[in-house]
Amino acid sequence: MFDEDWVFFKGDAAEAQDVTCDDADWRHLNLPHDWSIEGQFSEDHPGGPGGAYLPAGIGWYRKRFRLPEHERGKKVLVEFDGVYKNSDVWINGQHLGFRPYGYASFHYDPTPYLNGGDAENILAVRVDNSTQPDARWYTGSGITRHVWLLVTDELHIAHWGTYVTTPVVSQKLAWVVIRTRVVNESAADRKIALRTTILDADGNVVGVDESGKPSSISRPHPLRAGAAHEVVQRLRVEEPRLWSVKDPYLYRVHSELLDGDDVVDDYITPFGIRTIRFDVDQGFLLNEQRVKINGVCLHHNGGCLGAAVPERVWKRRLELLKAMGCNGIRTSHYPPAPELLDLCDRMGFLVMDEAFDEWEEGKLEYGYHDCFAEWATKDLQDMLHRDLNHPCVVLWSVGNEIPEQSRPEGEVILERLVDIVHREDPTRPVIAACDNIASPMPTTEPFAALLDVVGYNYVDRWGERAERYYSIDRQRYPQRRMIGSENVSVGGVRGEYSLEPTEGWWWRPYHTRMLRAELLWKFTCVHDYVAGDFMWTGVDYLGEARWPHKNSSSGVLDLCGFPKDGYYFYQSQWTDEPMLHLFPHWTWPGREGEVIPVVCYTNCDSVELFVNEKSWGVKSFAFAHYGFDQSKGWAEQTFAPPVRATTADLHLAWDAVYQPGTLRAVGKKDGEVVCVQGIVTAGEPARIELTADREAIAADGRDVVHLTARVLDAAGNLVPAADVLIAFEVEGEGHIIGVDNGDPASHEPFQASQRRAFNGLCLAIIQVSKTPGTIRVKASAPGLTPGIVISKTH
Ligand code: GAL
Repeated sequence: MFDEDWVFFKGDAAEAQDVTCDDADWRHLNLPHDWSIEGQFSEDHPGGPGGAYLPAGIGWYRKRFRLPEHERGKKVLVEFDGVYKNSDVWINGQHLGFRPYGYASFHYDPTPYLNGGDAENILAVRVDNSTQPDARWYTGSGITRHVWLLVTDELHIAHWGTYVTTPVVSQKLAWVVIRTRVVNESAADRKIALRTTILDADGNVVGVDESGKPSSISRPHPLRAGAAHEVVQRLRVEEPRLWSVKDPYLYRVHSELLDGDDVVDDYITPFGIRTIRFDVDQGFLLNEQRVKINGVCLHHNGGCLGAAVPERVWKRRLELLKAMGCNGIRTSHYPPAPELLDLCDRMGFLVMDEAFDEWEEGKLEYGYHDCFAEWATKDLQDMLHRDLNHPCVVLWSVGNEIPEQSRPEGEVILERLVDIVHREDPTRPVIAACDNIASPMPTTEPFAALLDVVGYNYVDRWGERAERYYSIDRQRYPQRRMIGSENVSVGGVRGEYSLEPTEGWWWRPYHTRMLRAELLWKFTCVHDYVAGDFMWTGVDYLGEARWPHKNSSSGVLDLCGFPKDGYYFYQSQWTDEPMLHLFPHWTWPGREGEVIPVVCYTNCDSVELFVNEKSWGVKSFAFAHYGFDQSKGWAEQTFAPPVRATTADLHLAWDAVYQPGTLRAVGKKDGEVVCVQGIVTAGEPARIELTADREAIAADGRDVVHLTARVLDAAGNLVPAADVLIAFEVEGEGHIIGVDNGDPASHEPFQASQRRAFNGLCLAIIQVSKTPGTIRVKASAPGLTPGIVISKTH
């Protein structure tokens, strides 16, 4: 990594690429960095569909470094995982390149301009995000992802130079084909051989070549100065452990480039052994087993951290989504940070990796359409080359709701993009997220026909009954493979309920979204030919909101990662472990005797609701959706009497009369009590409970710990409307990098040491130092007993 010890200047600076530039006053920081998120919210900054009401602009970064003596005569590569946007990079005053797309990963070769030994080198980067509005979401500004400095021999394996496929996969045996590009950038002709070995997760050698040897060694091959060569090798793995959603097992290809007996380059490529197939009738098959894709769309930002997101932030979010039963991620609407795909490989998510939100026609004044004509081929190819070996990736998406989809020129562009993908990776299908017949920019038939899988966005927007559109299209295009690439989620603002009809009674809008999401899911779940769905969205994201809101609240997790009620709807549908979730809360002062609609999401067979031990009755589902066997088709399910899935709700509800005390639900499965949840009427705030998301924290300067502060009454009940201001004091080996409470309308700064609770909760994210030790955090508010957490870093 090359993230540490950069200096930063916000604004444009004359000749800052020059070695002589005086940067003594610039601010020291480590990457990744997003200067927008440090700003103040204001209606004057890009907002609405075009940002999160935060500043954008121009910024400069510089880094000084020396190359130790032993690295002279080597090849050096500087790699950027993503710079938002319009970056220019210089080394020692020499321009290395310009890259407009802020989500592209790219690299330059500074070798000819480098100073060796004790002499200093200066890398300078200008970032220009000044043309606004630029995207329909918050982009962040700066070197928002990691930077790497890679040093190799002049004879080396090309960057992104391995391509691993598994053309034959069974329980007994897999054949792994490894294509490796070798480049000779030295001035002399060389003779190369490549030794390729497959290792299992524990490092054991597991592959054998055609003649039974544990490594495949290519025949020595002359490689002229300046030439490149591709080596193709095959290795067999007996009884492979297949990569799947439940067991995301990873192997590794170890590539050693030999010049005589010397190993001159050494390269590791993680990969998975698995097959994927989208079938016209059966939907998605992983290792020939039907898997319904229970997916979510995700934007790139990490809430209060903006676009510079530590890996642990994603890991926590993915853990929460996994616990909801989610098994699919759509990287809407651009290539993600590489570490997100690493996590999806390791955690077992199926990814729809998306390239673009715009082609030639823009959706706002500025955006990707400015550079599509010149850069799309390169950006798409680079995304493919970077992400090819990830077993998690099952779909390449070339666009989201592209305006050209309804015009003939769209077909021409699409054909070109599809050809690129098929040429670079024939093993995965191409998709685009399409609008359909009832939308103002419907997808044309020839456009859809060019796609391997057609993505359906918002079938629920097309009319009352989502299923009609899938069914009608299936009748008209029986060979079409279909998936819901983006559809409604329950979403909403966490914990927001109003009983006032004049304020927009919460029940109505929530209920509307709830029923739409239920309708959609019922249809998707019982129709195998719909491969799955990516609902909009897994997590709230910055931008695409109208002031005073600065973030969209379409997520089932809020900006802090706190689950909303809708989270439990998906959990009830997507998991088997008995669960139930009751809402709303049970603290309604002055509302005694009023009816409160109580809702329960559950995968139990039946639930009985009590208010202070008075039963409000046992409710069960008219349709045993939770017992639905996803490996079978609708026609193969046995229900007596058969009930159409679309006739019943996927939640239980009671109109209970409010009395302070305890709301309690008792859930049964097969006659046994398996879940009990009680919600007690809360008293006044008395203390703060502070908890950390985990104990094993690495003292590496990057890891983070998430601390949740909950405002409790004297008896330990969450006070649901609490909004006290909580101050965080940190001592020891960490510091606060962000605070938030999930309130879309809050304009408090994210970089602070205090935050108001929102509906009882708030979050502080602490980043560790590099020194192992202790971090002690105290969360306090006037008149309340503080909460304290002590974490150890190792
Ligand atoms: C979709 C679009 C998403 C987001 C969403 C908001 O049409 O693809 O990016 O804007 O609408 O509901």
